[in-house]
Amino acid sequence: MIKDKVQYSKNMFPRLKCIYLNSASNAPTPLESIRAITDFLLAVSEYGPDSNKSQDMIEDITHNTRKELAALIRCRVDEIVFTESTTDGINIVANGLMLKEGSSIIIRDGEHEHPSNHYAWLRLRSRGVEVKSINLKDEYGSIDVDELISSIQDDTRLIVLSHALFNTGLVLPVEEIGKRTKVPLFLDSAQSVGCMNVDVNTLGCSFMVFPASKWLCGPSGIGILYCNSRAAEYIEPPSIGGESAFIHNGSLVYREMPYRLQTGFRSYALLAGLLESLRYIRSIGIEKIRQWNIYLADTIIDELSSINNVKLYTPKDCRRTSIVSFMVDGINSSTLVRELDRYGVVVAERSILDKKVVRVSTHMFNTEDDVSRFINILKKIIIQEK
Ligand SMILES: Cc1ncc(COP(=O)(O)O)c(C=O)c1O
Repeated sequence: MIKDKVQYSKNMFPRLKCIYLNSASNAPTPLESIRAITDFLLAVSEYGPDSNKSQDMIEDITHNTRKELAALIRCRVDEIVFTESTTDGINIVANGLMLKEGSSIIIRDGEHEHPSNHYAWLRLRSRGVEVKSINLKDEYGSIDVDELISSIQDDTRLIVLSHALFNTGLVLPVEEIGKRTKVPLFLDSAQSVGCMNVDVNTLGCSFMVFPASKWLCGPSGIGILYCNSRAAEYIEPPSIGGESAFIHNGSLVYREMPYRLQTGFRSYALLAGLLESLRYIRSIGIEKIRQWNIYLADTIIDELSSINNVKLYTPKDCRRTSIVSFMVDGINSSTLVRELDRYGVVVAERSILDKKVVRVSTHMFNTEDDVSRFINILKKIIIQEK
């Protein structure tokens, strides 16, 4: 059954001519989603770009995409804000909270964090906000939840975490953290939405950001900001325009959510593509996607563990996504990534503290054959480079 779905997945990417093991960077877009983008553009050029028909189509696409996303992460439709990227969403919250001198936030050790979810918070120091960093317990990026909870003080305004880590694949125990404190939680879920079950209610987060282009297999250029309706009141919109505000009795008044935070979004053609990708993901099912991804990642971990001089940087237990990171003793990771690419296998190089690792990430369209070919090519390169 699950293999049928994988086969069906594979057919959705007929243009893919390589072994693509890099969905944690950007996943390929299914052919149907590409068609939805071009269909949108063709329809608009037929109806006239600024016509009632085009406007109705845009409203339908926007509403249906919000509905799909709200069902996916289990929130209200008006809590979904479209942004340009994950980074954009992080900046909207970091700047919009207007944190004042004397307040503090807690982040995980930034040296191990994705720069997007680090720099926007670090910059708050220039406003006199204290940015407290929680130490890592190990190279996988784990943190001590007790340490985090005990570092909360009266002036703590926000806890900032990645849900799943971009470099090791570790899934952090955010649910437990959400249960143990009332301090608002900001989650960078770029590496979790689309490849595992994400429920904002169980996670207890006030804000969550993720892109269309990674595990959701949507196009680049769209990000999603989940902003809890109560938390939205604490965000000063970083920009303003005719769609986000109006003038009432001579004063500027913001519109309701999600419009108050969504001033400049115009990528409707891309949204049509994302909508198709979301429907496609729903047709397969997140649980099935996760099961298959973990099965392939387990196979990769087993195979890599049997190769001499390979060190894994991904936990073996179940608290992880399908990201598998490793180094080969004596061979530069950038050389490995380049050589794999030469043989038609696309992976990425990423940093884990001061180390450069090779990061492999499988998604629903990858097959067992992709994995065995990757392992065989890797073995060949190791012999060649030694
Ligand atoms: C955890 C994490 N946060 C943020 C980003 C940045 O995403 P975007 O390109 O959508 O801004 C990435 C991208 O790799 C990521 O993995």
